[in-house]
Amino acid sequence: MVAKTLRQQIEKLREEIRRHEYLYYVKNEPEISDYEFDQMMKQLAELERQHPEWVTPDSPTQRVGGTPATEFPTVRHAVPMLSLDNTYSLEELADWDRRVRELAGRSSVEYVAELKLDGLSMSLIYEDGVLVRGVTRGDGTQGEDVTANVKTIRSVPLRVASEGLARMGSPRRFEVRGEVIMTLESFRRANAEREAAGQPRFANPRNAAAGTMRQLDPKIVASRRLDMFLYFLFVEGRVPFAKHSEALEVLSLMGFKVNPHYRMISRFEALKDYLDEYETRREKLDYEIDGIVVKVNDTRLWDELGTTAKSPRWAIAYKYPARQATTRVLDIRAQVGRTGTLTPVADLEPVDLGGVTVSHATLHNMDEIERLGVKIGDTVLLQRAGEVIPQIVKVVRSAPDGRPFRMPSHCPVCGGDVRRAEGEVAYRCVNAACPAQLKESLLHFAGRRAMDIEGLGEALVDQLVDRGLVRDVADLYRLTPAQLTALERMGDKSAHNLLEQIAASKKVGLARLIYALGIRYVGERTAQFLAEHFGSLDKISKATQEELLAVEEVGPKIATSIVEFFAEKRNRAVLEKLRQAGLQFEQRAERKRLGKLAGKQFVLTGTLPHLSREEASRRIEEAGGRVTGSVSKRADYVVVGEDPGSKLDKARALGIPILSEADLLHLLK
Ligand code: IVH
Repeated sequence: MVAKTLRQQIEKLREEIRRHEYLYYVKNEPEISDYEFDQMMKQLAELERQHPEWVTPDSPTQRVGGTPATEFPTVRHAVPMLSLDNTYSLEELADWDRRVRELAGRSSVEYVAELKLDGLSMSLIYEDGVLVRGVTRGDGTQGEDVTANVKTIRSVPLRVASEGLARMGSPRRFEVRGEVIMTLESFRRANAEREAAGQPRFANPRNAAAGTMRQLDPKIVASRRLDMFLYFLFVEGRVPFAKHSEALEVLSLMGFKVNPHYRMISRFEALKDYLDEYETRREKLDYEIDGIVVKVNDTRLWDELGTTAKSPRWAIAYKYPARQATTRVLDIRAQVGRTGTLTPVADLEPVDLGGVTVSHATLHNMDEIERLGVKIGDTVLLQRAGEVIPQIVKVVRSAPDGRPFRMPSHCPVCGGDVRRAEGEVAYRCVNAACPAQLKESLLHFAGRRAMDIEGLGEALVDQLVDRGLVRDVADLYRLTPAQLTALERMGDKSAHNLLEQIAASKKVGLARLIYALGIRYVGERTAQFLAEHFGSLDKISKATQEELLAVEEVGPKIATSIVEFFAEKRNRAVLEKLRQAGLQFEQRAERKRLGKLAGKQFVLTGTLPHLSREEASRRIEEAGGRVTGSVSKRADYVVVGEDPGSKLDKARALGIPILSEADLLHLLK
């Protein structure tokens, strides 16, 4: 009886986790914090550790499972994975539309226009609603079985929602196809990590996604946070709906991520509008697209129109012009960033890149310069992706008198020593008071995702630092109206607004403050985990390396960086000033959710079968309970293991409920 309820509880917990995964990764509308989510996952993992016989392949804990593979088996696709014919002009597209209408014998045909996502296509097989296989496109006929890697993609449901399944008549087996992508955010992060680890950068998000999918270790794949949008649904090799748009809806219903930008189109003019619209909007997307795909909506027409050797006649791609151009490198210089890193930046002969004039490109680091073999004077191929800073793809013509770039031995801004730390790619200015670093720190501190001080832009920061009004981020809170109005282009009203913005920033929550401090390797997500784990800045500042390592996603590199940051006297002085200014050093109460065991007092005695005493105490405390050493009338429960001491007798005498470890886990659910 107990076993059955526990088993039901495990399944309930899984359902709850699935729901939150869906809300977070598919809908982008989380209802709980990352911390709360992680707690649920930990709880499930613990219960499954105790009952390995109940672990199912669709359990959320099974996303990163198993050991690294040595190779990927080859699998044949039931239906070949075709590719698309490409068009590059409206004329070609109009020709295609005419041909489709002729072949269909209709004067007008309804289309669905979709974004052409720049990733890699993948086929997923589900049996009884559970993901059983993920296969790459390969040569279209057969691909590689990368199931373990696909399972790490959090937006891919391991089990689909039954409402969606029912809409298809609940087939035992079905297949879905779509595109695995890496968002620009994950791409930047992956490259930053590779840089820190001394590995070469990925050239673009598609290469990064493809390279990641070919990783033999699913743990590495999971850490790269891939994403997947689905666009096809097959049952026994056919689309089970009369319309493609209906298939997209059902995919959504099943819990798959369907790209929301698709549109039904019934006039050619509307198609043209769609192309134009997304040529601009692509800049704002968090992932790369390289064109749009137009599909005939009526799936019965798919059979009538048929396919050529390689591509269907009922769909076509319209490719946007590549945002690439060639230009000359006029100079390469070192730019000093917030953490003192010297980044080589190329000054370019200005060139138009998809409507934007570009005159600089980052070269990232010395390794990148070496890899490209770029010298001052060379002609290079330039590329821009999304809102990402333009990049040099390769040297197209080496200048015979090209000058190689050398990293300066002294900071170009303050003249401080420049050093390269052991095992690092980056060169750094060691002067903590370097004005360039200060300016970058201020801009980061004021950023939208940090303290969100609108109006504190580059021009203003330059003036504040150059006039000595601000020597650290805390000085912002001491600025007076008179100091501000004395600056260039700063009237009474702007000064007033800025001071209001600065004052308002004091209310920003702990996680954002931590992020705003600009501790090396501490991004927004890590800041969030730190805030939730420790609850106050003071606790974080006093945490040891070991304590920091207990925080979600904090590894040795981040932990060391945090310890070093708070060990620095200057930083501690700045923190003191920030405290006096009245910033939020504590996690606000509403974020600390009261746990299930709030107000309950526990006593532990004897050896528990699975949990160590520390682990048990931690879990009780995380759920809001308290653990005390001795049994008194105020204790709510006594948890008893093997060889209990006199505490058990006392508990019995006082009539305090006695729990086994299993009972405790039950309560913690
Ligand atoms: S339809 C037979 N829809 O583009 C139809 N493909 O050049 C082929 N792609 O291999 C797939 N976004 O990797 C389709 N919305 C979309 C797409 C898309 C990206 C990729 C896919 C395919 C390639 C064809």
